[in-house]
Amino acid sequence: MVGGFKSLRNKSLIEVGCGRGGCLKYIVREYAPKSTIGVDISQENINFCNETFMTTTHQAKPIQGDVRFVLGDSQKLTEALTHFSETEDRRITETADVVMNVESSHCYPDLDAFFSGVSEALKDENSVFLYTDFRYITEYGKVQQAVRRHFEVIKEEDLTRNVFRSL
Ligand SMILES: C[S@@+](CC[C@H](N)C(=O)[O-])C[C@H]1O[C@@H](n2cnc3c(N)ncnc32)[C@H](O)[C@@H]1O
Repeated sequence: MVGGFKSLRNKSLIEVGCGRGGCLKYIVREYAPKSTIGVDISQENINFCNETFMTTTHQAKPIQGDVRFVLGDSQKLTEALTHFSETEDRRITETADVVMNVESSHCYPDLDAFFSGVSEALKDENSVFLYTDFRYITEYGKVQQAVRRHFEVIKEEDLTRNVFRSL
């Protein structure tokens, strides 16, 4: 299960702050979403993802599907997800069934601006936002309040033990 979905095979996915694509690569390999977009503010990271994501040879399962990476700022997410489609001859703003954000939001100056952009990027009322980050315990309440200003929380979990186990 990912975000309550039994399968991602017919689902679209956006990861904001995708870095060098490690987390996305695992998800694409294991869950094969229909389409995937990685967004990052670093041109170097986007270049790295574009150069290496599809070409890794040692993976047991090949990487397949529609995978794209775009340069963009989480603080202006709608802008980052908007592009001109030549086939449709109009501007399109991408949305997705699943929007993810993993260990990136501690870099963002304005969480409300980010969460507003995420709300716009969620495709419909069944779409989910999967969000995790590390924070000082003193900041945690503010983050929780900001999350609740923008989203209905379905599940909340402390992942610290899992993170330690994975190191
Ligand atoms: C620790 S990495 C997380 C990488 C990825 N989520 C993963 O788990 O493999 C944090 C990423 O957030 C990106 N980032 C920081 N500020 C950002 C912003 N305002 N907009 C988009 N990405 C940002 C950084 O460039 C970096 O790649």
